[in-house]
Amino acid sequence: MTTTTGGLEDIVATNSSICDLDGKLGKLTYFGVDIHDLARYSTFEETAYLLWHGVLPTRAQLEEVKSQMQTKRKLPSQVIELMHLLPTTTPPMDVLRTAVSVLSAFDPDISDKSLEANHDRAVRLTAMMTTIVASWERVRNGREPVAPLADGSHAENFLYMLKGKKPDAHMARDLDVCFVLHADHELNASTFAARVAAGTLANMYAAITAAVGTLSGPLHGGANEQVMRMIKRVGDVDNAEPYIRDALERKERIMGFGHRVYHTEDPRATHLRAMSEELGKYTGDSRWYEISRIIEEYMKEHKGLNSNVDFYSASVYYMMGFPIDLDTPIFACSRISGWTAHVLEQYSNNRLIRPRAEYVGPKVTEYVPIDQRG
Ligand code: COA
Repeated sequence: MTTTTGGLEDIVATNSSICDLDGKLGKLTYFGVDIHDLARYSTFEETAYLLWHGVLPTRAQLEEVKSQMQTKRKLPSQVIELMHLLPTTTPPMDVLRTAVSVLSAFDPDISDKSLEANHDRAVRLTAMMTTIVASWERVRNGREPVAPLADGSHAENFLYMLKGKKPDAHMARDLDVCFVLHADHELNASTFAARVAAGTLANMYAAITAAVGTLSGPLHGGANEQVMRMIKRVGDVDNAEPYIRDALERKERIMGFGHRVYHTEDPRATHLRAMSEELGKYTGDSRWYEISRIIEEYMKEHKGLNSNVDFYSASVYYMMGFPIDLDTPIFACSRISGWTAHVLEQYSNNRLIRPRAEYVGPKVTEYVPIDQRG
């Protein structure tokens, strides 16, 4: 049996056509299309279509997928009622995980395991993610959820449902780019969790529930929230360098830095850094960007660690006016497209995922009756 270092580092666990990630060159493609081109020219809807179908859509196909997503945004009223039963202190990621799980009860035909039905579920789950997150934000603040937009993009719908008014076009396009950048990332922990669940032929809701739970941890998607809490603690540009120096002296792990695969600049961070700088100018307060920049330079110089996708998305989301604990759910509103694409790929060529553990416990031990144990 081949042994492994912890964390399955560098272990190739499956074949996939979806996402190619070169950690040495800092290159990322979805079905061969460069992430830089997608960030510059694409939209979340177009990128989601690419992930689900393996090709960029024609204009007619894009219009169709947009329209499908728009018509599938509304949640069953029981899911909103369920939110009203939850303590308002429930973390948004826990609400998201619970809501995704319960949506299986409202699937028109959960026994239909055809490719077509699963494609339909991928679109429906993606469309509903922003509705869940924005509805919980309102419910926990004692306000009624806003009905989803009948038109507009995934990003526009989220902003509209959260704030209850027509979104700022500049912010909506920036959020759309964030959604493109977060849409997929090969066999990251949450996608792997989704594929393991799908590999047992559990349904798509079960697989996505596993993925949402896995994303929530601070070593994965939960890092962006922790980054913003750190930047807020720093509070002022003059405090940034002493803060990070002290934190490193205390041997703290600095969220938003390091990556299992990238050993160079994460190509997504390139766009998010520029967006954070530009949003600072747009909002007239560059403090969060400037603090981030000082921390980033210090980490690079003293630890040789690059910022990852979660570092600059933190200040970007803060400047967009989102409560900090929505940062990871917003990540999920995009990553749902990649998760569902991987689940579809897993179903299309499935084999149960069942690795081995190398046993390192005690050798054969005699069973001692309970009264004779010391
Ligand atoms: N801050 C400080 N030191 C870090 C670090 C960070 N963010 N990330 C890695 N390191 C150091 C570790 O302390 C370790 O040093 P050591 O060998 O002297 O003990 C070394 O780098 C390797 O770290 P390790 O945890 O083994 O790497 P990994 O591949 O298992 O972990 C991450 C990858 C992403 C989990 C890790 O870099 C991390 O915890 N980052 C912060 C959380 C984060 O931003 N997650 C989002 C990822 S997109």
